[in-house]
Amino acid sequence: MKHLLALLFISIPIFAELEAKSKNSNWWKEAVIYQIYTRSYADSNGDGIGDLNGITAKLDYLADLGIDVIWLTPFYQSPNADFGYDIQDYMTVGKEYGTLSDYDKLIREAASRGIYVINDLVLNHTSDRHPWFINSRSSRSSNKRDWYIWHDPNDDAPPNNWQSIFGGSAWKMDALTGQYYYHFFYAGQPDLNWRNPEVQDALSKVMRFWLDRGAAGFRLDVPDTLLEDPEMPDNPIGEGLNWVGDPNMLHKYNMDLPEVHGIMRQLRKVIDEYPAAILLGETGSPETIDELLVWYGESDELHLAMNFLYTNVRELSAEKFTRHVIESDKHTDIGWPVYLLSNHDRTRHLSRFADGLHNNAIAKQLAAMTLTLRGTPILYYGEEIGMTTQDPVRLEDVKDPIGRLFWPDFKGRDGSRTPMQWNSSQYSGFSQVKPWLSVPASAAKINVEIQLNDDQSILTFYRKLLAVRNSSSALRHGEWTHIPTQNHEVFAYLRHSLSESVLVILNMSASEHDLDLQELVMNSTFEVLLSNHDRRFITEALLNLQPYETVIARVLKAQ
Ligand code: NOJ
Ligand code: CA
Repeated sequence: MKHLLALLFISIPIFAELEAKSKNSNWWKEAVIYQIYTRSYADSNGDGIGDLNGITAKLDYLADLGIDVIWLTPFYQSPNADFGYDIQDYMTVGKEYGTLSDYDKLIREAASRGIYVINDLVLNHTSDRHPWFINSRSSRSSNKRDWYIWHDPNDDAPPNNWQSIFGGSAWKMDALTGQYYYHFFYAGQPDLNWRNPEVQDALSKVMRFWLDRGAAGFRLDVPDTLLEDPEMPDNPIGEGLNWVGDPNMLHKYNMDLPEVHGIMRQLRKVIDEYPAAILLGETGSPETIDELLVWYGESDELHLAMNFLYTNVRELSAEKFTRHVIESDKHTDIGWPVYLLSNHDRTRHLSRFADGLHNNAIAKQLAAMTLTLRGTPILYYGEEIGMTTQDPVRLEDVKDPIGRLFWPDFKGRDGSRTPMQWNSSQYSGFSQVKPWLSVPASAAKINVEIQLNDDQSILTFYRKLLAVRNSSSALRHGEWTHIPTQNHEVFAYLRHSLSESVLVILNMSASEHDLDLQELVMNSTFEVLLSNHDRRFITEALLNLQPYETVIARVLKAQ
């Protein structure tokens, strides 16, 4: 009894913040998610590979930054044909990342700081070394045969023309049984057969295993590829070649099949057994917002569906972002938007948008936009210090198999997965030994330690921005209203709750612009909450915006 009481006294205050969060069943609408590429964040045991204990040691940094959720890329046992996205055992921690008790500790320590952890869940495929696949390929009569997708040859050729996203046919002949198996990604990633109820059950068990340990849900890897047309017709071929040099294929019969929403509803039922848990989907294929909204079902599929249409706006153009956000914000009642600019598969956004002259202002502006739109933002580790993509320079250094395959035209995804830049030491404070991917030379100057001590740094801006967001009801859950400016290089909008209105002005150009504030928001005065040009006050009605200037201002009552 004495022990129990002691435990209660310890645990109640520790988890109070998280408890308060989870009492709000819509907590995820106000959250900021931070994606950690597990292998590259912090190495605690000197093997050059990031691990769970490394992340635990950085939780104070993350709490101070002001994020609410960590999404961990796969840390399960894996032969690393696709660096963790080929899972050999769903219910273990890969030995390079730690142990289950390290995971439990991470969950506990994160919770004590009010931070949730969500796992990456790769449902579409396993590793070819997963015992299920080893069993499945062992004979045509294996009791796991139907857990994967096997097919006879079409004469001597693969069953149909389906292509792997990583190049070449999506079918691999397995001489052992004389049939092909299907793999949408690498051959080392055979697709599970999601039409088989046993597969559905097995993966539900996996979900409960992690939810029982305290995971706050999952980021679902490529949910759009889960099902294929059982008739397996050839896909239509479009014009030209795709990024890996294959004919451009419309994945009509092996992506985005309508039945996949039945699977999403099943997954959601499992998630709903756990009050605070959420499903965040890597919904990469929609071409319109309407197609994206389908993933939310009737609030019985994904809680959050990543809006890659936002990620794909290629120019820092006020017109383009305005058009896109107006569209994205139209149906927040059906689907709460999810805005992200970077991840482990793409060139980091600063490398896409920087102009060489205004890089800091641009990094801050993009952060300001992503964190003040109505929706749940996802940050990618290192963007808060302005990390850029650093591709490998020599073929022999490339780790990502597609980088080796398509070198030098495409250097793979390593460049966006380089070690987190903590300080100016030899291996950037990531590790004591040579890391699995080289530390970019820029780490000597671009790192957390330097930026924490610099008032004007990108990191300081992110910390202030998150503090502003976290203390503003308008920014966390208020309405979003576009404000036309008559100036096609300026994007402006208002966020407003019952108690507060916040104006956001983004000059998305290298030119100065004058903006008549009274025309924007009549009869008001403004309190600057944050600016990337050290603007502290707005005293004039005519605001002279500097290149790439960003202003976030509270609208005070009418004069
Ligand atoms: C999407 C992941 O983000 C990517 O890294 C991976 O290669 C594929 N899914 C296959 O799992
Ligand atoms: Ca390590």
